[in-house]
Amino acid sequence: MGEANSAAPAGPVDPASPVGLADPASPVGAVSPVGLAGLVTLAEIEAIARTRLLPGVLDYVAGGSWDETTLADNGAAFRRRQFRASVLSGVMAADLDLSTTVLGRPVPTPFGVAPMAQFGFCHPDAELPAAAAAATAGWTFALSTLSTRSIEEVARACAPGSPGGRWFQLYIQDDLGVSRSLVERAEAAGYSALVITVDLPVIGYRDRDLRGTGLALRYGNLPPVGDATTTTIGRRHPPLTWDLIDQVRTWSSLPVLIKGILVPEDARLAVEHGAAGVVVSNHGGRQLDRVPAALDALPGVVAAVGDRADVYMDGGVRRGLDVVMALALGARAVFVGRPVLYGLTIGGEAGVARVMEILRRETERAMVLLGVARVADLRPDLVLEARW
Ligand SMILES: Cc1cc2nc3c(=O)[nH]c(=O)nc-3n(C[C@H](O)[C@H](O)[C@H](O)COP(=O)(O)O)c2cc1C
Repeated sequence: MGEANSAAPAGPVDPASPVGLADPASPVGAVSPVGLAGLVTLAEIEAIARTRLLPGVLDYVAGGSWDETTLADNGAAFRRRQFRASVLSGVMAADLDLSTTVLGRPVPTPFGVAPMAQFGFCHPDAELPAAAAAATAGWTFALSTLSTRSIEEVARACAPGSPGGRWFQLYIQDDLGVSRSLVERAEAAGYSALVITVDLPVIGYRDRDLRGTGLALRYGNLPPVGDATTTTIGRRHPPLTWDLIDQVRTWSSLPVLIKGILVPEDARLAVEHGAAGVVVSNHGGRQLDRVPAALDALPGVVAAVGDRADVYMDGGVRRGLDVVMALALGARAVFVGRPVLYGLTIGGEAGVARVMEILRRETERAMVLLGVARVADLRPDLVLEARW
């Protein structure tokens, strides 16, 4: 059972064709650099991407599970809160410093690309342009187990440097030998951390996907299972337990992060089981519905973990205001999912770069207006819980 397209009719598709685009004949990256510069919000980029993706692919990317309550709440949680802003701080744009540390390593920005399956639905070069944009912008790039391009190809796309670093996200496969070889390949290819996603023992009930995208892509990292031509059918996970996490940790020297944590007691267990960090996430509202928004879950996890591990979050980050709020509530960095795929769809590497630039500029503007020059100075008392 995989994240991508589990119910779609399997069929061989040339990974080199932009299979998810509504009009594959039109040039990929249809929005020129000049056109991209005219787009000033992620919402505008999403609106254009929506017109370019095939309906089934758009459903897969944009959709959530069940009633999509949590999907909607991920964004709403940011808007329920307000900033407690003082004035006359004297902070100027030139004072700003977005650098921080991630797993103890200095990074230029507190942003990352969330791991997502099958970028190949959005662009013929799949993850490569997005990884290149991340390397240039200093974002951490988290590569999914279910990527279209392989661990090694993506590592090369980031060469020679990637100041934000590369993480590898592991879905533990039923065949532990296969799982272990993925981890070993990631370590050999220079990925600096292993993110184990634990909120997908089975795929969420995604009404939209159950109707099928009608498309299937081969995975870049995994051997086919069941069907001769595609790996989307028949992929299974073993029972996910803390014991299994302990086992996976022994497969490499990479620091381990646990992704999909929503409650403080799981965060505590993650630390007890040696995690260097946790990612507060509800999988972008794609797994269990009616769980809290990631931002709502964040403070409890931060309190439980203390300074024993790093806390990251993803889900619903669409504006620099959201970034500042999540950092203030204790996230060390925020990860961004769907907007990266939308940028990729409309402009390839330049489109992803534009998404990253917009978020950085919005974040900087918000920090000046809050009178905070450094990421480390963003504290919870800058955020008011709205009285609703
Ligand atoms: C199309 C798509 C595919 C995803 N695939 C994966 C995956 O392979 N592994 C994983 O850990 N999370 C996956 N996720 C979840 C993201 O890592 C992240 O939690 C979520 O997208 C964040 O929410 P946002 O899209 O609102 O930013 C996927 C999300 C989307 C939208």
